[in-house]
Amino acid sequence: MYHHIELAYLGIQVPEPTALNSFFGEVIGLVPGEAISKEDPGPDTLTWRDDRKAHRLFVEPGAANDATFVGFEAADDTVFDELCDRVRAAGAELAEGDAAECAARHVERLVSTTAPWGVRVEIVTGLADAAAPFESALMPAGFHTDGVGFGHVVFATTAFDESHRFAVEVLGLQQTDWLEMDLGGGMVLEVRFYHCNERHHTLALAHAPFDLPQTLHHVMFETNDRDDVGAAFDRAWTSGLPIPNGLGRHDNDGMFSFYVASPAGFQVEVGHGAKTVPGDWDGNRAYDQISAWGHQPLRQA
Ligand SMILES: [Fe+2]
Repeated sequence: MYHHIELAYLGIQVPEPTALNSFFGEVIGLVPGEAISKEDPGPDTLTWRDDRKAHRLFVEPGAANDATFVGFEAADDTVFDELCDRVRAAGAELAEGDAAECAARHVERLVSTTAPWGVRVEIVTGLADAAAPFESALMPAGFHTDGVGFGHVVFATTAFDESHRFAVEVLGLQQTDWLEMDLGGGMVLEVRFYHCNERHHTLALAHAPFDLPQTLHHVMFETNDRDDVGAAFDRAWTSGLPIPNGLGRHDNDGMFSFYVASPAGFQVEVGHGAKTVPGDWDGNRAYDQISAWGHQPLRQA
């Protein structure tokens, strides 16, 4: 299996982190992550896990109400050093993480820069395992993360071309395929999908026509068992939260999934069974529809 980098974690900032507890814990089926050490930004930052790693989501207090950082774990020190070189070669600032920052993230090495879509990108090595194995009563078969990172993230940006260059030339991601969907009235939805391991996309970038209130459109968790998607859908339905897209199957990655809006506005996709992308992928082509079937808007905010 080829493996360059993988999605390590995502940082979200909301005014009150505990306001997302029942959403992540009781609707999605994540479990609380490792306690943050004293050196951390604050005692109120909460973390969540979807696998054996110490943490995959950081929910920190603040006004942004959006994603504020995203971590990519390099497969080894050589890849890490190459990524640092490419950030410098691109003329972007590269901040070295100190011991306190590494401890807060439970990683061995950390550098950061800011992506053109406005979110800090942290490049790390050695994301630690949690002390306890992953076990979620609501997600009995667990999530698919081995060798493919914890899921995928999708950001919307007006700096579309610049963001594409950053993803490909700096992070070294490869474009898997792209979406160009006619929305009528001269509007076209354009989304580019990128891989860095066998997951069809670890990152996708949507071309925003203007600055949107949130850069983070959604974060996706992939279950090992198809039935766990159905059970999560039932919980989302019972929660009363908006369901922007009911059950359906994406055209490009083939994933069976649904989308629920979090209390903070950004969405979470819970899915299963996406196609995998081999190292010699040659399927980079345009799609003209998001879904082969389903994903109907079920319940609006
Ligand atoms: Fe997605």
